[in-house]
Amino acid sequence: MTRPLRLAINGASGRMGSALLALLRDDARFELVHAVVAPGSGQDGQPVFVDRADGLRYAHDWVDAPALDVVIDFSSPSALAAALDHCLLHDAALVSGTTGVDAALEGRLAHASGRLAILRAANFSLGVAVLTRLLREAAAALPGWDMEIVEAHHGRKQDAPSGTALALGQAAAAARNTSLEAAAVYSREGQTGARIQGSIGFATVRGGDIVGEHTAMLIGQGERLELVHRATDRSIFARGALQAAYWLAGCAPGQWQLDDVIATSG
Ligand SMILES: NC(=O)c1ccc[n+]([C@@H]2O[C@H](COP(=O)([O-])OP(=O)(O)OC[C@H]3O[C@@H](n4cnc5c(N)ncnc54)[C@H](OP(=O)(O)O)[C@@H]3O)[C@@H](O)[C@H]2O)c1
Repeated sequence: MTRPLRLAINGASGRMGSALLALLRDDARFELVHAVVAPGSGQDGQPVFVDRADGLRYAHDWVDAPALDVVIDFSSPSALAAALDHCLLHDAALVSGTTGVDAALEGRLAHASGRLAILRAANFSLGVAVLTRLLREAAAALPGWDMEIVEAHHGRKQDAPSGTALALGQAAAAARNTSLEAAAVYSREGQTGARIQGSIGFATVRGGDIVGEHTAMLIGQGERLELVHRATDRSIFARGALQAAYWLAGCAPGQWQLDDVIATSG
């Protein structure tokens, strides 16, 4: 496309929304035309870019949204549902990183992908997407090697292991024709006995301001392969979502993955 893509952000006042807005200041691929915040938000009606005279203001719904090509959503499941309604009405592509989506909304998204190009990811880091590919390959190529996944995050993180560690485990398990449910060992303490052959172990580190680190270890006899990804800045997720949105606009309807973006981006 030669003209900038007309983009809306859903969840524009959130951590991810703010990271996207910061990147969009210098990204000529996109024209931001709509920015949605929660009803009752203090941002509602305020200018999006205070130093610009473009007149764009935060909105609490989609009623006055102009024509657009693609929506990037990092919000909440209910806000994602409203964005999906808008995309369906106006044939806009949808990129979403929102987590915690229930089965009913999953079903709606799957159904909508018959008409819309939709790309969702639990982690929009392009590096993690490549790590997942490499791990899949290594797990299949070294079937007898023990596998352990170690993740580290800041001390405020509420859940463990991280969703990304679980997704890595799922990819590795599938590459070995098993499932995470069958193979995962999430904790070891006391008299654990010997390591279970073919299991995938998880270990968690929490502390300080670690943005996110994931290490997949494949451990053989006398040698060890480690695949490591370290995130140092949350903007990587926003960068990945923008790359995905640029790639997705103009794609055929369907449920696309970040892996598809990597496969076709040089
Ligand atoms: N896939 C990834 O790589 C990735 C990375 C980071 C986060 N996430 C996910 O992305 C989502 C947002 O994360 P975040 O850290 O940006 O959260 P956040 O800081 O809490 O931001 C959420 C945003 O959604 C808006 N919102 C909430 N309810 C809404 C509603 N009913 N209608 C319209 N807007 C609504 C909020 O508006 P107000 O500020 O006005 O309340 C805010 O702008 C979460 O599900 C998180 O797990 C995914």
